[in-house]
Amino acid sequence: MTRETVRIAMNGVTGRMGHRPHLVRSILALRDEGGLDLGDGTVLWPEPVLVGRRGHALRALAEQHGLEHWSTDLDAVLADPAVGIYFDAQVTSAREEAIKKAIAAGKHIYTEKPTATSLDGALELARLAAEKGVRHGVVQDKLFLPGLRKLKRLVDGGFFGRILSIRGEFGYWVFEGDWQPAQRPSWNYRAEDGGGIVLDMFPHWEYVLHELFGRVTSVQALTATHIPQRWDERGKPYDATADDAAYGVFELAGGAIAQINSSWAVRVNRDELVEFQVDGTEGSAVAGLRTCRVQHRSATPKPVWDPDFPAAYSFRDQWQEVPDNADFGNAFKAQWELFLRHVYAGAPYHWDLLAGARGVQLAELGLKSAAQGRRLDLPEIAL
Ligand SMILES: NC(=O)c1ccc[n+]([C@@H]2O[C@H](COP(=O)([O-])OP(=O)(O)OC[C@H]3O[C@@H](n4cnc5c(N)ncnc54)[C@H](O)[C@@H]3O)[C@@H](O)[C@H]2O)c1
Repeated sequence: MTRETVRIAMNGVTGRMGHRPHLVRSILALRDEGGLDLGDGTVLWPEPVLVGRRGHALRALAEQHGLEHWSTDLDAVLADPAVGIYFDAQVTSAREEAIKKAIAAGKHIYTEKPTATSLDGALELARLAAEKGVRHGVVQDKLFLPGLRKLKRLVDGGFFGRILSIRGEFGYWVFEGDWQPAQRPSWNYRAEDGGGIVLDMFPHWEYVLHELFGRVTSVQALTATHIPQRWDERGKPYDATADDAAYGVFELAGGAIAQINSSWAVRVNRDELVEFQVDGTEGSAVAGLRTCRVQHRSATPKPVWDPDFPAAYSFRDQWQEVPDNADFGNAFKAQWELFLRHVYAGAPYHWDLLAGARGVQLAELGLKSAAQGRRLDLPEIAL
């Protein structure tokens, strides 16, 4: 076995996403396993270079994890020929500029979503990367979660018959920050800083719907800012200018209709923080992050509407758990592995900047639909 070191510039690693899911649970977890075996006698050894604005925070993080390389100078890191990949988990508003620099420096790109704050910006990144000939990937972690992988397995196995509808429920209560600190960063609630639940979540819904059920062909959304004032990380009140809830209806190629509620102002009375119910002519399923339950046509009860009597049985008990039948691993790490195999072993990979741009398109048209109060078609995008 030969060990090949891959230096990965990781920008935004002091943040919520950059630190846990990407640095600790993906890159450092791969190192704990001895690297990534490419199957051709080579083991890739990921060597993170922590990049950010605050030197003291980066130094502390590097020391905490026993890492050697960190820098506050992105240009210098990108000028280093030993760095092969640029990864971006910064705040959304800082992403485009940094990725453009990284493409210009000839680095392969891996990035959090949304890839940009506008469709034009997202498409430009995809075009620049194609012109430069670098490889690129966008985080689409939900596809690699056990619950959704089991749901995809059901779709691929023909369990549903003709799929009629998908109903998604996402959200939880995000504290305002006054009497209990908020559990999400305050920029998420300011439109001027790239916040808003549509820009955050519609990119996820685009790839989930597209890959499992069919391309989104139209969107109709109603957005709200249910909580108009919040308190930031320093306890200072601010105006919440971004949408904190979105109620969306999506038409899909193939004829299914999806309806997804996304909200940071709901209290959870579900088994998981996101759940999708899929109804088809032959059966139905409810999938969350980890679990998936089904009810086949042959086992469907016949409820009769009669509110004068209590329900005769527990509807929830009439569903059957889909077994894992596999070890799915961490969703972010699974996608990192596929991306590294794509870059260093030429494996196929389609979750790229063009796929990321489709997510930005859905967010952009979702917001436009809400502003105009009408349903909008989604044209297919291409480079
Ligand atoms: N894939 C997912 O499920 C998922 C979930 C949440 C967030 N995200 C995405 O990840 C990205 C980061 O989100 P997060 O929740 O980790 O945010 P965060 O605020 O916790 O972290 C942001 C990071 O960007 C850095 N940064 C760079 N420029 C900045 C600036 N001008 N102002 C403030 N911080 C700046 C911060 O230092 C920090 O390291 C966002 O683009 C978000 O959409 C993805």
